[in-house]
Amino acid sequence: MTILLLGSGGREHALAWKMLQSKDCSKLFVAPGNAGTASIAVNVNINPNDFEAVKQLVLAENIEMVVVGPEDPLVKGIYDYFQNDEALQSIPVIGPSKIGAQLEGSKEFAKEFLVKHNIPTAAYDSFTKETVEQGCVFLTTLKPPYVLKADGLAAGKGVLIIQDLAEAQEELRNMLVNEKFGSASAKVVIEEFLDGIELSCFVLTDGKNYKVLPTAKDYKRIGEGDTGLNTGGMGAVSPVPFADAVLMEKIESRIVKPTIDGLQKDGIPYKGFVFIGLINVANEPYVIEYNVRMGDPETEVVMPRLQSDLVQLFKAVATQTLDQVDLEIDPRSATTIMVVSGGYPEDYEKGKVISGLENVEGSIVFHAGTALKDNQVVTNGGRVIAVTSYGDSFQEAIKKSYQNIAKLNFDKMYFRKDIGFDL
Ligand code: AMP
Ligand code: GLY
Repeated sequence: MTILLLGSGGREHALAWKMLQSKDCSKLFVAPGNAGTASIAVNVNINPNDFEAVKQLVLAENIEMVVVGPEDPLVKGIYDYFQNDEALQSIPVIGPSKIGAQLEGSKEFAKEFLVKHNIPTAAYDSFTKETVEQGCVFLTTLKPPYVLKADGLAAGKGVLIIQDLAEAQEELRNMLVNEKFGSASAKVVIEEFLDGIELSCFVLTDGKNYKVLPTAKDYKRIGEGDTGLNTGGMGAVSPVPFADAVLMEKIESRIVKPTIDGLQKDGIPYKGFVFIGLINVANEPYVIEYNVRMGDPETEVVMPRLQSDLVQLFKAVATQTLDQVDLEIDPRSATTIMVVSGGYPEDYEKGKVISGLENVEGSIVFHAGTALKDNQVVTNGGRVIAVTSYGDSFQEAIKKSYQNIAKLNFDKMYFRKDIGFDL
């Protein structure tokens, strides 16, 4: 079948790489893609949020399935757009409906869903400009640190964790009254702080049945020892060593199953990935957040460990027959290290020629922010390349990635040298 994948990051290169291993994928388009996807599929330069342009492409190329990488088109309702268009109705979109995407698009929606379905999460309340003073009082009832979350999408920057009460109250006013994150912080969720170690659980669902994909842990901060600014992710490890059978059973029975059952009970159409951000507090898992897509760079370790045919899984999602397929997972560890542009996540330069890619051996290079210019691969984003390796242990896999990164070079290249340090 002919498939269109929307997105342009390392996640999309990894999804494209995996889909192309399927005999069911005869042609793959990626919009807009990067230099990595260009080397294995056909890139089309359209914006995934321009649904009309997506429609024209789908009709012109007889595309039979659309897989959505990032959250933006989902939150904007691409699933519903297809459902409501006579010419597109029969073409499956892998990703949730607009209302389902609110699990990521609105922190308040997600918290209400969690509470309604009795899924463990931090205690919370939410506030608006009108109730800002009540919010300041609510803060006095909590123990520090204080967790403030902008309700809407804020490019991963909308969560503040603050030690000092007065400062937390000041920031709450900044978010609600001074619109610190624009309309995304028109509402703010204030949460109890949970002290534990984070991990992510990935689920593929057809809205009724689900499959639990491999767990992963990512490293969000730019600096070694988890210091400095938040990024999209600087590396990832799968499986998560401390996610043993006992913890996984708790995650599945208390969190995954109630989530999928909850979607069904609430009549929320959902055919796609659910990325559940968890925190393990004294061996009890709590949900920190839902995302309605795969993680990046987590996809770059989850997809290499998936041995099942991804396109067949997607077809089963579309026909709600996921209960009839088996999931096979590679028992080895996979790790990925993100190579980024100097300056990221703040200002950085683009267009730097990347050398040494042809010398990588025994690792998989997934492109993130890259482009082709005069037949050369150049940097085109903050996160540039993810180098993924397998190993019998995660330490062995990480070592292999670092050996291969040593062969790469571009001006002001940076990567964290301590991925996995806390495991
Ligand atoms: P989120 O965007 O909701 O994933 O939050 C970003 C980060 O803030 C998470 O990855 C956690 O490290 C941290 N965080 C969010 N909520 C909490 C919480 N209730 N307790 C402790 N840390 C949290
Ligand atoms: N790596 C975190 C995310 O994709 O949201």
